[in-house]
Amino acid sequence: MTGPGTLFGIGLGPGDPELITLKALRLLRGAPVVAAFAKPGRPGQALGIAAPHLLPEQQVLRLEYPFTTEVSLHDPRYARDMGDFYDQAADQVAQCLAEGRDVAVICEGDPFFYGSYMYLHDRLSHRFEAQVVPGITGMSGCWTQANAPITHGDDVLTVIPGTLLEDAMVSHLSRTQAAVFMKVGRNLPRIRTALIQAGLLERAILVERGTMAGAQVMPLAQWPQDRPAPYFTIVLVPGRQGVR
Ligand SMILES: C[S@@+](CC[C@H](N)C(=O)[O-])C[C@H]1O[C@@H](n2cnc3c(N)ncnc32)[C@H](O)[C@@H]1O
Repeated sequence: MTGPGTLFGIGLGPGDPELITLKALRLLRGAPVVAAFAKPGRPGQALGIAAPHLLPEQQVLRLEYPFTTEVSLHDPRYARDMGDFYDQAADQVAQCLAEGRDVAVICEGDPFFYGSYMYLHDRLSHRFEAQVVPGITGMSGCWTQANAPITHGDDVLTVIPGTLLEDAMVSHLSRTQAAVFMKVGRNLPRIRTALIQAGLLERAILVERGTMAGAQVMPLAQWPQDRPAPYFTIVLVPGRQGVR
């Protein structure tokens, strides 16, 4: 009788298929079960990156969110229903691990950086061996795509979720030299207003689908106000320029 399987949280990088680490590739190919979070009806970003490397004998376990951006983070339903969803997803993964099969949970970017994998890790890492492989983050892919060094000298970099309220964003912006806004999507109008209030709109750069096919880079001030931003969008505020 073999022992329980190992849980792997595997970062696959920001989208460019060549930005996967050798370690991620080795562990991905070796796992009998590959699990990925995805929106129902969508292929899933991590699965898209992994697809060319998967073998027919590997089982793919799709963990489909009950909702993504349709329910606000501030709605009480969000924490309750997402908590239930992660409990069920952890049960499915635990069943494979208990049967002795390793499970590679593949993640866009880095698993421990705003990644859903960490909710499985929280629920399972005390029961099963768990190993995480870091990935190049989306923000790193975006500032590279924009050809924009993000921090110079002693700049402080602040990462701000686009889900924050406007006042909180302005307050963070007032205490940093460089900033990255994650989870931009439908939060773009509030981010733009916060940047205007902080006097930083002219420095802000919008990056859509950084390092992926169809990537776009544009000064935020030129982004049409009525144009929605896609889910994979980051807004960068590079730090002080040319200080040395
Ligand atoms: C749930 S977070 C996951 C972050 C991911 N684990 C990482 O390491 O970057 C999803 C958000 O990351 C940002 N993002 C991640 N990769 C991106 C990319 N390649 N281009 C633009 N935005 C990206 C977007 O703001 C998106 O809404």
